[in-house]
Amino acid sequence: MSPHISLSRYLVEEQRQRGKIPAQLRLLLEVVARACKGISHAVNKGALGEVMGSAGSENVQGEVQKKLDIIANEVLIEANEWGGHLAAMASEEMDSIYVVPNRYPQGEYLLLFDPLDGSSNIDVNVSIGTIFSVLQKPEGIAAVSEQDFLQAGAKQVAAGYCVYGPQTMLVLTVGDGVVMFTLDREQGSFMLTQEHVKVPEDTQEFAINMSNMRHWAPPVKRFVDECLQGKDGVRGKNFNMRWIASMVADVHRILMRGGLFMYPWDQREPNKPGKLRLMYEANPMSWLIEQAGGAATNGQQRILDIQPTQLHERVSVILGSKNEVERVTAYHANV
Ligand code: AHG
Ligand code: MN
Ligand code: MN
Repeated sequence: MSPHISLSRYLVEEQRQRGKIPAQLRLLLEVVARACKGISHAVNKGALGEVMGSAGSENVQGEVQKKLDIIANEVLIEANEWGGHLAAMASEEMDSIYVVPNRYPQGEYLLLFDPLDGSSNIDVNVSIGTIFSVLQKPEGIAAVSEQDFLQAGAKQVAAGYCVYGPQTMLVLTVGDGVVMFTLDREQGSFMLTQEHVKVPEDTQEFAINMSNMRHWAPPVKRFVDECLQGKDGVRGKNFNMRWIASMVADVHRILMRGGLFMYPWDQREPNKPGKLRLMYEANPMSWLIEQAGGAATNGQQRILDIQPTQLHERVSVILGSKNEVERVTAYHANV
């Protein structure tokens, strides 16, 4: 017998003992986990499963879609549309929202996802993931529209990701801290392997795509310059750097051992606030990080307080160990 409890049991106990998870939300989370298991299997097959390479199409943001982007999107939709727990879904890979078809009952939740995060890493066998965010459907509406999704991240009722790395892990918050589950492939179940996840307030590790340095705004450049000066500079300590180019994997590292992650605005496309998407990348990750004691801002304000105006809106992201996030944010205020 495994000493670990399963995700199903964890969710049932959270529902029963703590009243934290309503029955429909519990079902939703079980279904998302099942879909992630399916995606994990597809990822693991690699070239043997004809899942590698480009699909030859573009998504609404003009990015080339990989086969696995589309497969993961379909797995999530097919798993979630019939259970009666959802009203509609939204995805990085779909231009507009997907309302649950009339032949199925409609539930009270809205699900948003980045089906496959870190697409550039698929073909080189580096960690990738799935990110998800759950909102409540506003009360008293007859037909769901895109407008109903435009809620600030602070309104999320559940958020998480699944990382497909050396281990497949599901990381979750329902607003009661962060818990981590590891997929036991023999049993086919996610098993609870870590509770009370805490991001240390200080760190000596940062993550940013350094090749964009010449495009950054002065506060970001100042922060990184100071880190690079190491022990002899104003910070008085050496810094290490990591950049996996899968937000899921970079955020997972930060939840495990601290760090600072930045994908800031830069001058390449000055009218774009950043690269990452607010509603299905930045919001769920920011809530997880905050729930683990970290912080997340766009340089000006807390990410979870941003009122979205578009489903696929982008945002500048600074998240991770609290004291470093506060430092970079303060540098923005001093400009
Ligand atoms: P996606 O694969 O869903 O489009 O997201 C990729 C994102 C994110 O995961 C990562 O942090 C970032 O893009 C990497 O961007 P660069 O290739 O510009 O470093
Ligand atoms: Mn992504
Ligand atoms: Mn993606």
